[in-house]
Amino acid sequence: MKIRGIFYSSLLTLLLPLAVWAQEPADCLSCHGDKELKKDLADGKTQTLFVEQKDYLQSVHGNLSCTSCHTGITASHPQDQPGKVDCGICHAQETEAYKKSIHAQAFEADPSASPDCLRCHGTHQVQKSGSEKYKKTAVDQCGECHADYRRTYFDTYHGKVVSLGETKDMPLCWDCHSAHEILPMADPQSNISKERVLATCLYCHPDANTKFAQYNVHSDKYSYKNDPISFWTYFVMVLIVFFAFGLWVPHTILWFIRDWLENRKKKKNPETKPPAESGGGA
Ligand code: HEC
Ligand code: HEC
Ligand code: HEC
Ligand code: HEC
Ligand code: HEC
Ligand code: HEC
Ligand code: HEC
Repeated sequence: MKIRGIFYSSLLTLLLPLAVWAQEPADCLSCHGDKELKKDLADGKTQTLFVEQKDYLQSVHGNLSCTSCHTGITASHPQDQPGKVDCGICHAQETEAYKKSIHAQAFEADPSASPDCLRCHGTHQVQKSGSEKYKKTAVDQCGECHADYRRTYFDTYHGKVVSLGETKDMPLCWDCHSAHEILPMADPQSNISKERVLATCLYCHPDANTKFAQYNVHSDKYSYKNDPISFWTYFVMVLIVFFAFGLWVPHTILWFIRDWLENRKKKKNPETKPPAESGGGA
């Protein structure tokens, strides 16, 4: 009897945290599931404190308790100051990589100009990064701040194939630049630096050599500075097309007008015949 009692009470102690764990999002959402819940900010604006339950449950974090991220919540909530969430407590590797990146540096200088974890992944709707939906939106996200590079990517081989719907083997921005440790090409540690770009191409092109790696994957035919060869080729082709159409179209129009005028003249004076024909009938 005694042993059974110990068994049940220890089972209970084992299950209790689980019960709290399962209960907790619902507890928090009893307030934060209210669309009207807002907080006044120091600058006079208001911030919504609403959390959409459906989005949260469908996110990769849907089965975590709210307090596994919001570790600062205390019993005195909402009178407490819970503080910022640190993604690094569970994603140390990505966080370390990000800290070394140009984005982290630029974020420190101006948080509105450069991405942090939340800008790229969201807060309560974080999606699995391998999903097709995430990949598509992530490329566009990079493009929000790097519009020219997005354009030239879709103008060249890899991006054109991707835009036809093939994303499986094709490189997306982060397959070449990495997702977290993004560095400018002038930095030798960068995936696209002179020293390392060949290794980046070799990952998918096992026969690549130094010459192959020099291929301009962001070739911009509109920019003389970016790619003079493409620029001039494009320029000359456009000139040829322009002149071909520039001569052919007016030529055809003039020809048409001449035809029309002659036909009208013929209709007005039907008996007027070319001299050769009228001469032959006499
Ligand atoms: C009784 C209703 C209530 C419950 C339950 C509740 N909250 Fe809150 N929460 C609030 C209110 C009200 C605020 C705004 C406080 C303020 O104005 O500073 C808030 C603010 C917050 C903030 C934002 C803090 C900030 O300064 O940006 C977070 C994060 C938060 N709650 C998380 C949680 C979590 C996680 C739980 C569950 C463990 C929870 N809340 C349970 C009412 C509640
Ligand atoms: C994966 C981590 C994570 C989980 C799990 C999580 N949150 Fe958050 N939450 C964040 C982040 C990140 C922010 C942005 C502010 C910050 O950095 O602290 C945030 C902000 C908030 C805010 C402030 C308003 C806002 O949207 O910025 C509230 C309220 C909140 N969370 C409630 C909840 C509730 C309720 C749950 C559980 C249903 C929950 N959170 C689960 C990461 C999380
Ligand atoms: C308490 C631990 C915890 C915290 C804090 C946390 N995560 Fe997660 N995260 C997880 C777990 C566990 C998974 C794996 C879920 C799965 O594989 O189904 C995950 C998965 C992810 C994924 C998808 C991974 C993949 O394989 O595609 C991303 C992206 C992600 N988290 C981003 C974040 C961001 C951004 C934050 C900060 C707002 C954050 N996480 C905070 C535990 C956490
Ligand atoms: C510039 C946008 C960007 C920023 C900033 C960013 N991520 Fe990511 N993250 C991505 C992309 C894109 C992927 C998908 C990478 C892939 O599929 O190879 C990803 C993948 C992940 C994954 C899945 C595992 C992996 O490494 O592939 C986790 C976890 C993650 N990020 C967490 C974080 C955390 C935590 C932060 C902040 C320290 C962060 N990310 C900052 C874009 C970003
Ligand atoms: C919120 C805007 C923003 C988003 C989103 C963003 N970046 Fe950036 N990125 C920046 C800023 C700002 C810099 C630093 C520019 C500088 O200092 O010249 C930068 C620098 C870079 C650099 C180095 C080039 C340079 O000029 O220093 C690369 C490569 C890069 N980002 C790629 C990406 C990729 C790939 C993504 C998507 C996964 C992405 N960025 C998403 C703002 C952004
Ligand atoms: C096939 C690999 C590859 C892909 C995919 C790719 N890039 Fe690049 N990216 C490069 C290389 C290589 C360079 C250096 C090119 C050069 O010589 O200017 C570069 C240069 C850049 C730069 C300037 C870097 C600097 O330091 O000046 C940015 C920003 C950038 N890419 C963003 C993006 C974005 C955004 C995407 C997705 C839309 C993308 N890239 C896709 C390989 C790639
Ligand atoms: C994530 C994989 C991946 C990476 C990284 C990658 N490519 Fe590709 N690339 C492909 C695939 C797949 C094709 C189409 C199949 C093929 O022809 O090999 C392709 C095609 C090409 C083509 C078209 C001509 C050809 O050889 O078929 C060029 C040029 C090219 N890549 C250059 C580069 C350069 C330069 C780099 C490095 C900066 C690079 N790629 C990095 C996957 C990649």
